[in-house]
Amino acid sequence: MASLQKIKLAPSILSADFARLGEQVKEVTDAGADLIHVDIMDGHFVDGLTWGPKTIEDIKKWTHLPIEAHMMVDNPDKQIDAFVNAGTDIITIHYEACSSLINTIASVKNSGIKMSLAINPDTDFSNIEDYLHLLDQVLVMTVHPGLPGQKFLDTSPDKISSVRTSIKEKSLNTELEVDGGINAETIAKAAQSGASILVAGSAIYNHPDGIDNAMKSLRKKLKHSE
Ligand code: DX5
Ligand code: ZN
Repeated sequence: MASLQKIKLAPSILSADFARLGEQVKEVTDAGADLIHVDIMDGHFVDGLTWGPKTIEDIKKWTHLPIEAHMMVDNPDKQIDAFVNAGTDIITIHYEACSSLINTIASVKNSGIKMSLAINPDTDFSNIEDYLHLLDQVLVMTVHPGLPGQKFLDTSPDKISSVRTSIKEKSLNTELEVDGGINAETIAKAAQSGASILVAGSAIYNHPDGIDNAMKSLRKKLKHSE
């Protein structure tokens, strides 16, 4: 488990109704979300296409919560300034998209926002472990990025645990976020493996009993997993 601090829930608006994005952000805010996870896709790094910085700027009017931009894009360095200026609080950049990780980390840190580094399921944590002390957050992808509603990969718990162990060994307080396939069945396992932030999209926005009940049921599972 992620020490004694409260585990955070980060709804991903990828499964929201895009025509009512502001209201859907407000709904998860009112239901007790801890941050808003915004999936930025460029049609190259992943096949999907979503939003740009203006979306961040606009949804900020509907929530007081921190906003994370999960950049599933090639050439992420080109986008940092625009997303910082739009009011992004945490920028998550994929290790696989970086040409010079140390420069990317420096650019984000110099801009004054939080630096989060994501790794895909096929990327071993050992590739980024030496940079851990420079990061505010690590995002372990528990599905192959690009689509909502996929199955949580079985290899994920071991990977989450190894990142948690390294954070502990180095006495860091890096956030450990997990993204993909989080639902009422998988959330306890992800938390017990050491995640401190859980992203959930379809399990919240597509829940048959609505957003509020979806969030309550995820929280309940988390509580039982303690
Ligand atoms: C997938 C995105 C996720 C996605 C998760 O590439 O990064 O944030 O919204 O969706 P679910 O929770 O449905 O797996
Ligand atoms: Zn995401």
